[in-house]
Amino acid sequence: MAKNLLRGAAIELIKSAEMMQARSDKTRITGGKIAFVPTMGFLHEGHLSLMRKGRNLCDELIVSIFVNPTQFAPGEDLDSYPRSLERDLELCEKNGVNAVYEPPDGQLYPDGFQTYLTLDDLPHHLCGLQRPIHFRGVATVVAKLFNIVKPHWAIFGEKDFQQVQVIKRMAKDLNYDIEILTGPTVREADGLAMSSRNAYLNDRQRKDAVCVHKSLLNAQEQVNSGERDAQKILEQAVEFIKSFDGTDIDYIKICNPETLEDVEAIEGPVLMALAVKFDKTRLIDNMTIGV
Ligand code: PAJ
Repeated sequence: MAKNLLRGAAIELIKSAEMMQARSDKTRITGGKIAFVPTMGFLHEGHLSLMRKGRNLCDELIVSIFVNPTQFAPGEDLDSYPRSLERDLELCEKNGVNAVYEPPDGQLYPDGFQTYLTLDDLPHHLCGLQRPIHFRGVATVVAKLFNIVKPHWAIFGEKDFQQVQVIKRMAKDLNYDIEILTGPTVREADGLAMSSRNAYLNDRQRKDAVCVHKSLLNAQEQVNSGERDAQKILEQAVEFIKSFDGTDIDYIKICNPETLEDVEAIEGPVLMALAVKFDKTRLIDNMTIGV
């Protein structure tokens, strides 16, 4: 365990799973409550909003920073994923984080590792269509992090709506004694959902990327003016996004927010979710729309 000695900060940087577990055991023995925000680092206001939510609940706020290799398929952006540990630690410190768990490569998946968590249905929709191993990696690493950090609450962003559903299901199915909380999507001034991957966009793509959020707002407007046919709304959204040069739609769906199954007629609140590639950069967004 190494103290982050930057400006004598009180925040602790913990590299070892055993030391993280020991710290949490100590907190729990003395009746302390732990809130946890798992991240892959390169922190932005979306991550920080979750930390502030946790800070208000707990005695100990723990953040993990780990770019989890098992949720990236070969050819995805594992190697180029942006990293900025020093800056991340400063942001954590400013937002009241007590300790950051940042395991070195290899610690969570040592030689011989062979135990993965898979869910039967939820991963086969939305992002899982093009990223078939993604949620196996997410569920596995989050389960491991839960066992290492031992939190009372874990907080996730609604920007990754399907991830929230997977984690909630996994926590329930496996009887984790952890309350899963969520925070709303934090956006840039023009509506683009904040994401570490926005750093990949060039100026032109950054401007055009607003079409992802705009397509969701347009859909709600159509519902407001009486449209109930999900297919028609999706067709207009596709046309709108394709009108921006170089966009490639990975998926765009209107679905049941619980099961993520497609919905045909909009008769109540439904989830509209999409993933759009700008060259190699894949952005996701979602919104609850409906009557
Ligand atoms: P990462 O993309 O770093 O996101 C960490 C958390 O921040 C997730 O719960 C995500 O939903 C949330 N988040 C990201 N952008 C947000 C925004 N604009 N507004 C609100 N919350 C936002 O998600 C992951 O890492 C990983 O899959 C992880 C859960 C850490 C497992 O490896």
